[in-house]
Amino acid sequence: MKKVLIPFFALLLVFGCLEAKTPVRKAVEARHGMVVSAEGLASRVGRDILKQGGNAVDAAVATGFALAVTFPQAGNIGGGGYMVIRMANGTTTSIDYREKAPGKASRDMYLDSTGRFISERSEQGYLSIGVPGSVAGLLDALSKYGTMKREQVLAPAIALAERGFPVGASLARVLNEKIDELNCFGGTKRAFTKKGKPYKKGETFVQKDLAETLKRISAHGKQGFYEGKTARLIVKEMKLGGGLIALDDLKNYSAIERPPVTGTYRGYSIVSMGPSSSGGIILLELLNMLELYDVAGSGFGTPQNISLMAEAMKLAYADRAEFLGDPEFYPVPISTLISKEYAAERSKLIDTMKATPASAIAHGTIPTAEGTHTTHYSVVDKWGNAVSTTTTINSWFGSGVVVSGAGFFLNNEMDDFSAKPGTPNQFGLIGGTANAIQPNKRMLSAMTPTIVLKDKKPVLVVGSPGGSTIITTVLQVILNVIDHRMNVQDAVDALRVHDQWYPDSLYYEHASLSAGVVDQLKKRGYAPAERPGHQGEVEAIAVDGTKKLLYGAADPRGHGVAAGY
Ligand code: DON
Repeated sequence: MKKVLIPFFALLLVFGCLEAKTPVRKAVEARHGMVVSAEGLASRVGRDILKQGGNAVDAAVATGFALAVTFPQAGNIGGGGYMVIRMANGTTTSIDYREKAPGKASRDMYLDSTGRFISERSEQGYLSIGVPGSVAGLLDALSKYGTMKREQVLAPAIALAERGFPVGASLARVLNEKIDELNCFGGTKRAFTKKGKPYKKGETFVQKDLAETLKRISAHGKQGFYEGKTARLIVKEMKLGGGLIALDDLKNYSAIERPPVTGTYRGYSIVSMGPSSSGGIILLELLNMLELYDVAGSGFGTPQNISLMAEAMKLAYADRAEFLGDPEFYPVPISTLISKEYAAERSKLIDTMKATPASAIAHGTIPTAEGTHTTHYSVVDKWGNAVSTTTTINSWFGSGVVVSGAGFFLNNEMDDFSAKPGTPNQFGLIGGTANAIQPNKRMLSAMTPTIVLKDKKPVLVVGSPGGSTIITTVLQVILNVIDHRMNVQDAVDALRVHDQWYPDSLYYEHASLSAGVVDQLKKRGYAPAERPGHQGEVEAIAVDGTKKLLYGAADPRGHGVAAGY
C-alpha cells in the first residue's frame, strides 16, 4: 500500500489559505435553532431535525451521521470523538467515544528491532486503526439525551448515501488527488469512485454499501455496527492487511459518559472535555493562567499579546506531555491541573519580554496526595440545549483503509499514542508513560468541544479540528469574545498563533502577522514560524440571551455552513 497520510498542513495549503485578519462574512442569525458544521448538507440535516421538533442532541446525532456520508474526509462512523452537552435544565455532561487500542496492541508495536519508531505503521494502513467509537457515542447521546427515534435521526444520512448527493468542489478535489494513495486492496476505489473513474464536481455520489451499514445501525442500534455483518466485514478487512481489531474488540467497545471538566474565566463558566482528551484540562489551565494578566489591555495581535499566550501555551503543553492519558489507565491529576492555585504557581515562570526556550521548561509539580482529519459541529435549539461535538478519523481519510462492503473509512488514531517516549507523532506532540500504548486503552486527544456559560446559560458553543492546535484555537476564540470583545464571526475569523512547547517554535498563520510584529517577537527571543496554511477550522454559535438571537459562525478557513431557522 502506498503512503496514505495526508499531512494536515499540506492539505490546508491545497485548500488555499486565508488572510485571517480580514473578516469576510457575517454570522448567520436565527431565532430558534442553529447547526454549524463543516459541510452544508449535514448542517441542513441537523437544522431540519430541529424544525421537526427535535432537540439539540437529536440534531447533533443526525448531523454526525450525515457528515459520515457527505464529509468522508473527517466525518465518520469509523472513528471516534467527544460530545459536551448542556441541557436547558442545567444538566451538564460529556460523552467520550474515543477509539481504543485493540486488545492485541502492545507498547512497542511501532518500534523496529533496533527500537526505532516507524511512523508509517502508526500513521497509515491497518496497524494504525483504533477500535471505532463514533456509533456507540452518537447512539448513547441519543438514547440518554435525545427525544427522537434512532430511525428518524438516521433517515437523512441513509437517504444521502442511498440516493447520493452532488459532489462539491472541495470533495471532488480531495478525492481525486488522493484516491490512488488511499486505495487499500481496492475497497477505497470501490466506495469512492464512479466505477473506477474519479467523481467530478456536480456528479451524484452514491454510497450503497454505506447506506446498508447505516440501515443496519438504524435497525439494530449499536449491535448493527459492533456485532453481526458490519463487525464481520471490519474483521475481514483487518485480515487482508494484518490489522489487529478482533470481533471481541468491537463487541466490548463502549462509549463512556463522564462529567466534563469545568472552570471559570472572568465571570464566565467553561465546560469542556476531560480525559481521555487533553483538550478541556489544557484549555482551563491556559485560561487560568491568562486570567492573571490584562489580556484585553495587551491588545489583539500585538507582540505583548502573542508572547503572553505563547509563554502560557508552552507551560501547559509541557504538562500535557507528562500528565495526560486515558484516566482508566493513568491517574491524571485533573483537579490540580485545572485549579487556580496551580495556574498561579505555574504562571510565575512567564516572562513576556523574553521567550523561554522549550528546553528550559519542564512539567509542573503535582502534589503526590492526588490520585487520581477531525471535524467539529455545534448545535443550539429553541429550548437552550447546547451540544458541542468534535469527531475524527485523525488524518484526512484516516488510515486510508475502507471496510470493503461496508463503505466507510477507518481511523489512524493509534498515532495519537506516544509510541516512543520523547518521539513526536504526526502533530509533533511528544509524551511518555501516561500516553503509552496499552491494550484497550484510549489514545490521548487534543479535541476540545467546549460550551461557555454566563449566568448558567450557554453564550458560546465552540470547537475545532487541527490536531495539536485544537486547544490553542479554541482558547483564542474564547479570548477574542471575552477579552477582545469581538462578535463571534470576527472571533472565528481572526488570526491565530500556536506554541506547543516542542517543537520550539511560535507558529502563525500564513500572511497573518506584519513584518513589524514578527521582528518584535524575534527581539523577544521567539523563532516565529509562518504556517503554510491556516490553523483550525472553528464552527461556533454565540447566543445573545437579551436579543434572543443565535449567531452561527462557520470558519472561512474551510467550507462550513451555519444553518439556522
Ligand atoms: O484527537 C486528536 O487530537 C487528533 N486525532 C485530532 C486530529 C485532527 O484534528 C486532524 N485534523 N484536522
